[in-house]
Amino acid sequence: MIELLRRFGGKFRRYMVIGPACKLIEVIFDLLTPLVIAQMIDKGIGAHDVNAVVHYGMLLGAMAVIGISFTLVCQKMAALTSQGMGTDIRGALYQHINKLSYAELDRFGTPSLITRITNDVNQVQLAVALGVRMLIRWPFLAVGSMCAALAIDLKLGMIFLICTPAIGLVFWFVMARCIPYYKQLQAKLDRIALICREGLSGARVVRAFVREDHERERFAQAADDQANTAIAVGKLSSILNPVTFLVMNLGVCAILWVGGIQVNVGELTQGQVMAFVNYMTQTLTSIVYVANLVVVFTKASASASRINEVLNCVPSITDEDNEPVALPQAPATDVDAPVSALSLSHASFSFGAGAANAVNDVTLELPLGKTLGIIGGTGSGKSTLVSLVPRLYDASTGSVSVMGADVRTWPLDQLRRVVATVPQRASLVSGTIRSNLTWRDEAATDEDLWAALDMAQASEFVRNKPQGLDTPVEAGGKNFSAGQRQRLTIARALVGSPQILIMDDSASALDFKTDAALRHAIRERSVCGAAEGGLPLTTVIVSQRVSTVRDADMICVLDHGSVAGLGAHDELYTTCQLYREICQSQLRREELEGQQGSTTPASAPTAPASVCAKEGC
Ligand SMILES: Nc1ncnc2c1ncn2[C@@H]1O[C@H](COP(=O)(O)OP(=O)(O)OP(=O)(O)O)[C@@H](O)[C@H]1O
Ligand SMILES: [Mg+2]
Repeated sequence: MIELLRRFGGKFRRYMVIGPACKLIEVIFDLLTPLVIAQMIDKGIGAHDVNAVVHYGMLLGAMAVIGISFTLVCQKMAALTSQGMGTDIRGALYQHINKLSYAELDRFGTPSLITRITNDVNQVQLAVALGVRMLIRWPFLAVGSMCAALAIDLKLGMIFLICTPAIGLVFWFVMARCIPYYKQLQAKLDRIALICREGLSGARVVRAFVREDHERERFAQAADDQANTAIAVGKLSSILNPVTFLVMNLGVCAILWVGGIQVNVGELTQGQVMAFVNYMTQTLTSIVYVANLVVVFTKASASASRINEVLNCVPSITDEDNEPVALPQAPATDVDAPVSALSLSHASFSFGAGAANAVNDVTLELPLGKTLGIIGGTGSGKSTLVSLVPRLYDASTGSVSVMGADVRTWPLDQLRRVVATVPQRASLVSGTIRSNLTWRDEAATDEDLWAALDMAQASEFVRNKPQGLDTPVEAGGKNFSAGQRQRLTIARALVGSPQILIMDDSASALDFKTDAALRHAIRERSVCGAAEGGLPLTTVIVSQRVSTVRDADMICVLDHGSVAGLGAHDELYTTCQLYREICQSQLRREELEGQQGSTTPASAPTAPASVCAKEGC
């Protein structure tokens, strides 16, 4: 909490001084009130002097008005500080989360990050508001009331000195047991957020598999777990108020008893006894509020450490001090030495210490303007491998270079402008088709957008929409079919003229004809780019389909993260057993028989072979 205050409180230091100072003035008036009431009783009511009653009454009224005025100023300072700090913390968290690499995002998990940015910041905000308003008030009121009471009469003060530690002890006993629960509550809230998110985002799958009851049960269990913890805390803290008020009222009885005797013998006035009762009530009520403050601050401190954990997480992928990389010149002729667009040298990557390598010792080089196809079974590391190129993950060992420069030396902005990625899961955000397409280049003209849509085979369905490029896109693009979403994400990657295009299984929802038309359009674009003196487009196509990668200049066959074969289709068909098996499982007999140097026996199976790259196929 202190760390957050140091980081974000500086701007609000003035408010954090003015607020408590105003509260202090209000507390002084609160402390003076019992004394004025005592005077009113003794000099006014006791002496049957109406003027004195009116006089002290007006004094009390004036004190109340002044006290309220200072309270209002304090409230305003508290609101400005807490809301301002909350907004700043949320903004900083959001910005920082956007700087984290996939590895760190995986570690925290999206639901937990959402809870931290919403619920945890709210807890801190509440603590800051209460801190400005109450942190001075209650302790000062408790100590002030005790001192004022002792100043009136030391003997009656003994009752005070017995009651206060008794209540303090009860609070200590309860709080010590409650605090660990508050920390658990936040973690349990994370779990509820996770289940909610999974259940809601996968609502269609849940229904399709008739898993509603199971999901309901899972949610109910998590909610019950959280509720049980909250109830356990509630039960523990529920003894606080009755015990406090029991001790307080017993104390008041004792004061009235002993005070009454002292009034009788003339040692104390009635007004002084009343003032004593008031101070006693104020002190013990203050202790209750101080305990509430402890609860709020404990929760806030648990939340603050969760927020700090994110803010202090150093992004593993940074580009500080990286100078822009000069792009190579396109070779003037075919005989010029080929410029390498992408090269991997013994690149390996694992998702965590002790985990097996998802990408294992991959070495390959792709010249400018060429197409690399990546094929392999489910979970063979295709997506992970291509994620190393735009530095979504950094290779654990080995290196990845783009245009001859190690990706670690590129400014991230420039790298991701040069390398456009179409992710495996097509994701669009709410807005319009235009706002989704201009992510890579905000200045793109309609002409650029239509050209990208044409290439992505998406222009037809966009033209058929009455609002064209201004057609609304709902969250996640759920008002489009899977194939349409894929085409739009391909078009989005093509806007801004990337030099390298990575398509991670992004044509899986396209029919074969559209898939072929897309690849043809991309190849044309590559050739045109080169003809116009620019860099030809280099393409990396990840696919489970042989038909999608077979025309690639180079095909990389992945098996459990390692390269099982690297070369052109014909060559691989004869040299790589895994590739041949994939082909046999997917291609028709005529296509297989047409293989150059085919080793396929005459009786090669036309139906899918028993070994298929895709698990469970
Ligand atoms: N975020 C992650 N955390 C931990 N392990 C992961 C993560 N993402 C992927 N993996 C693991 O890494 C391996 C490679 O996954 P990857 O997504 O690269 O496979 P893929 O070849 O793209 O599969 P698919 O064809 O299904 O898309 C898998 O074994 C997977 O379990
Ligand atoms: Mg994948």
